[in-house]
Amino acid sequence: MAGLRVQTLIFVLIAAFATVDRTFVEANFDKNMIITWGKEHMNMTGDNLRLVLDKSAGSAIRSKLAHLFGSVQMLIKLVPGNSAGTVAAYYLSSTGSTHDEIDFEFLGNETGQPYTIHTNLFAQGKGNREQQFKPWFNPTTGFHNYTIHWNPSEIVWFVDGTPIRVFRNYEKEGIAFPNKQGMKVFSSLWNADDWATQGGRVKTNWTLAPFVAEGRRYLARACQWQGPVSIKQCADPTVRTNWWTSPSFSQLTPTQLTKMKKIQDGFMIYDYCKDTNRFNGVMPLECSKKQF
Ligand SMILES: *[C@@H]1O[C@H](CO)[C@@H](O)[C@H](O)[C@H]1NC(C)=O
Ligand SMILES: *[C@@H]1O[C@H](CO)[C@@H](O)[C@H](O)[C@H]1NC(C)=O
Ligand SMILES: *[C@@H]1O[C@H](CO)[C@@H](O)[C@H](O)[C@H]1NC(C)=O
Ligand SMILES: *[C@@H]1O[C@H](CO)[C@@H](O)[C@H](O)[C@H]1NC(C)=O
Repeated sequence: MAGLRVQTLIFVLIAAFATVDRTFVEANFDKNMIITWGKEHMNMTGDNLRLVLDKSAGSAIRSKLAHLFGSVQMLIKLVPGNSAGTVAAYYLSSTGSTHDEIDFEFLGNETGQPYTIHTNLFAQGKGNREQQFKPWFNPTTGFHNYTIHWNPSEIVWFVDGTPIRVFRNYEKEGIAFPNKQGMKVFSSLWNADDWATQGGRVKTNWTLAPFVAEGRRYLARACQWQGPVSIKQCADPTVRTNWWTSPSFSQLTPTQLTKMKKIQDGFMIYDYCKDTNRFNGVMPLECSKKQF
């Protein structure tokens, strides 16, 4: 019985995704994003995004729409060669002093040294929840899929279909969870050589500028946020029945969990939950909770 139910559920999920995929098949930067910085430093045409950084400025875009729950995808090719000092970012964020934010950031490095995939989460204005990974592939020679799945029960960061991190909703136990504020999607390329590469020791080499990061297939299969509405009122009827409005659905299969464990064991280079010095031994509450 249980097996049958799981199969049915998987079937329903596949069907749901197929439907949504058709609805949102158009991945288009022009149409969905606006330029917020460095207009003369970038190109955003159809499905192609080119973010440029030189000594005078970087560049940034954000989505027109805000979302509450959903799956947000972007394929990214990071700065090749010596990218030291540069940071490319791709994140969801709301505004205000108690803002929520779900981050992917990519910290550049010297030629031959690995990029750092940096993740973080802010809930009700509180961040300091970094986990960092070194990539198990070369993120500068081709496009890789960075996707955030966000529903009322958990947030999952995916890289090329492999989950790398989960943050679960433990709101009932006093840990804030981003579930009340709509977030827009942002992407940018900027200089952060005071801290980004090897703790700020390696600076940006401006003779190598312009630095270029590229994006493709930006896709938000997500509920549209139109003010403080309840989950049931999620404004986009095409996604109303999907998992991202379900309050108690764990997104990951046992196979995916095994894969995530492998990535965390082999490629995680920083985990705030292990940094006892930083928190003077008083660890954030969620560090003692099961995340997957
Ligand atoms: C943007 O594209 C135009 C037309 O292809 C090109 O002339 C321009 O140099 C590009 N700008 C950047 C910053 O890449
Ligand atoms: C990107 O990864 C997400 C999460 O695994 C997946 O749902 C999506 O289909 C992938 N997109 C592409 C273009 O491979
Ligand atoms: C850069 O490479 C060094 C040496 O391999 C590594 O310790 C560091 O984590 C890498 N990433 C950054 C952003 O400095
Ligand atoms: C910066 O790059 C140029 C061109 O490759 C190189 O000649 C120079 O030595 C580099 N500067 C530093 C400080 O590494």
